[in-house]
Amino acid sequence: MPNAITIFSPSSVSNVGPGFDILGFALDDLGDKITLTLIDGDYDIKSIGAELPSDPDQNVATVALKSLAKSCGYQGGFSIQIEKKFKPGSGLGSSASSAAGAVFAANELLELGLSKKELIPYALDGEQVASGQRHGDNIVPCMLGGFVAVKSVEPYEGFHIDTPEDLKVLIIFPDVPIKTAEARKILPQEVPLKTGIQQAADMAGLVISLMTADYELIKGCLEDHFGTPYRKRLIPFFDEVKEMAFEAGAYGFNISGSGPAMFAFFKKGDDLESLKHQIVQQYKGADIEVRFHESGINKKGCEVL
Ligand code: HSE
Repeated sequence: MPNAITIFSPSSVSNVGPGFDILGFALDDLGDKITLTLIDGDYDIKSIGAELPSDPDQNVATVALKSLAKSCGYQGGFSIQIEKKFKPGSGLGSSASSAAGAVFAANELLELGLSKKELIPYALDGEQVASGQRHGDNIVPCMLGGFVAVKSVEPYEGFHIDTPEDLKVLIIFPDVPIKTAEARKILPQEVPLKTGIQQAADMAGLVISLMTADYELIKGCLEDHFGTPYRKRLIPFFDEVKEMAFEAGAYGFNISGSGPAMFAFFKKGDDLESLKHQIVQQYKGADIEVRFHESGINKKGCEVL
């Protein structure tokens, strides 16, 4: 049995408009590269590209690993190296990438034979440290890949949603950290019935429009009436960037997870250079760095490299 493994665990966009805590999809070429090594001692954490907690009881990856180790009776330790391409607190499921990736790697390395779905509860133990809640809208797409709707997390029950082959996602991430736990605290705990009905209608419309590749319907169903009205205040120039995206022909725009990253839907082949330039200019005035990522929907989820 080898004593080390390297895996890729993708970033993800959660909520996706009306799907608060329910919808999420995985991204191509953006995420964590994790090398996990079996060691005799305790837990050793090395991070590259971002500062992550070095206390194994505070780090989402090692919390998830400890939970899996306890359940399967593994008494040894782990050395984990996590290489990040973007900062935690970006709204792209950073904690989910680390937690899901860690247990995926351990399952392979220890040859536990658990399915990806069976690994979800352990990954959620890690996610809970970061967000204070066991929501699966980042963990599930990150682990399984694709565009998913999470019906329940314990036990996991969810659905894959087919998306148009030519769907392209533009990620826009301004460098202003937002902690998920904080972004959850500013939300009201109750919503008016009328708001709930609108959200449910948009959710139904969004799922159908994705499955039938009806781009005009996608555009009309990507609003979020629960979180975005409150959270957009945490994101400088949210309204301005949204307007620029629609002027450039976007088929929908919203916050990715709890932000500050935002996402917009386009079609493959759409040229986004002029839009990106406009957005950079907008943030430049406020001395905020902004980065972009163009992606399809990642269908693989966590994978061994
Ligand atoms: N559904 C979560 C939220 C995603 O919006 O709080 C962020 O991790």
